[in-house]
Amino acid sequence: MTDTTLNRHLIPGRAGMLLAELGDRAVCCDLYDKAGAPVYHDLAGQDTHEVRELLTLVRAVPGPVLDLAAGSGRLTMPLLASGRHVTALELSGSMLKLLDARLAGAPEALRNRCTTVQADMSHFALGRKFGVIVLGTTSVSLLDAPGRKGLYHSVHAHLAPGGRFLLSTVDLAAGGKALAETEVEFTADSGRRYRMFEYWVPGAEARTVTVFPAVIGDGQVDVCTTSIRVLSADQLEEELRQSGFAVCSRSLLPDIGMRHHSVLIEAQVTA
Ligand SMILES: C[S@@+](CC[C@H](N)C(=O)[O-])C[C@H]1O[C@@H](n2cnc3c(N)ncnc32)[C@H](O)[C@@H]1O
Repeated sequence: MTDTTLNRHLIPGRAGMLLAELGDRAVCCDLYDKAGAPVYHDLAGQDTHEVRELLTLVRAVPGPVLDLAAGSGRLTMPLLASGRHVTALELSGSMLKLLDARLAGAPEALRNRCTTVQADMSHFALGRKFGVIVLGTTSVSLLDAPGRKGLYHSVHAHLAPGGRFLLSTVDLAAGGKALAETEVEFTADSGRRYRMFEYWVPGAEARTVTVFPAVIGDGQVDVCTTSIRVLSADQLEEELRQSGFAVCSRSLLPDIGMRHHSVLIEAQVTA
């Protein structure tokens, strides 16, 4: 989704001001579309957040793994490296292309254990069951209420007996400081430097993440943005119960350096 459909005037805070200063030079894109996907992939390259905790829970349950909203494989690759068969489901063709390229460069034994599928996690039918279904990186927050209902229904239908559904969310209330906007600047593996803004007013339904290049040269400036719902662990656990799941565990993940913690929820089918 590029500027024609993304409303740049909705980007709040200092990120919105920076965008206004750049004027026509700024081209807004969705963080997961053709222009945004390489930026997300670059940013995700160094991010090992929640990987260790997810792998610990996955190891306890046998069977193939379904990685939902797999993106360019930040979680898929370590799941494969742990010896599991993994199906990586992702909506964005641009993200899947990055994952396919990553797999092409991986050892054959690992590549052969991976299947990639372009599909919507809120409505999928893969015709097989999985020991574990993973939805990490707080990606459940990308779905609206009907979308989450469809997600739970699809996950329910794809879990093998005794299987687990592992999903993470952001607990802004638990770790929150009062600041509406945070800004971090960092250098990705590629050597490129980025400024990432996250805007959230306590109580608001969504937070906005906007990524600029840290060094603004002449000419066009690609600005990537995404809006993410704020869904508490309590709310998700209630939704899971209503969709036929029992919650087995909830754990607070280590601070990720911004203003919030993630929470990892483990659920299994009850009915
Ligand atoms: C925060 S990224 C997480 C990617 C990867 N799991 C990671 O840890 O880096 C969210 C991903 O969800 C994908 N996505 C968004 N809506 C989706 C949907 N309805 N079905 C499947 N994937 C979706 C996006 O394209 C993006 O790749």
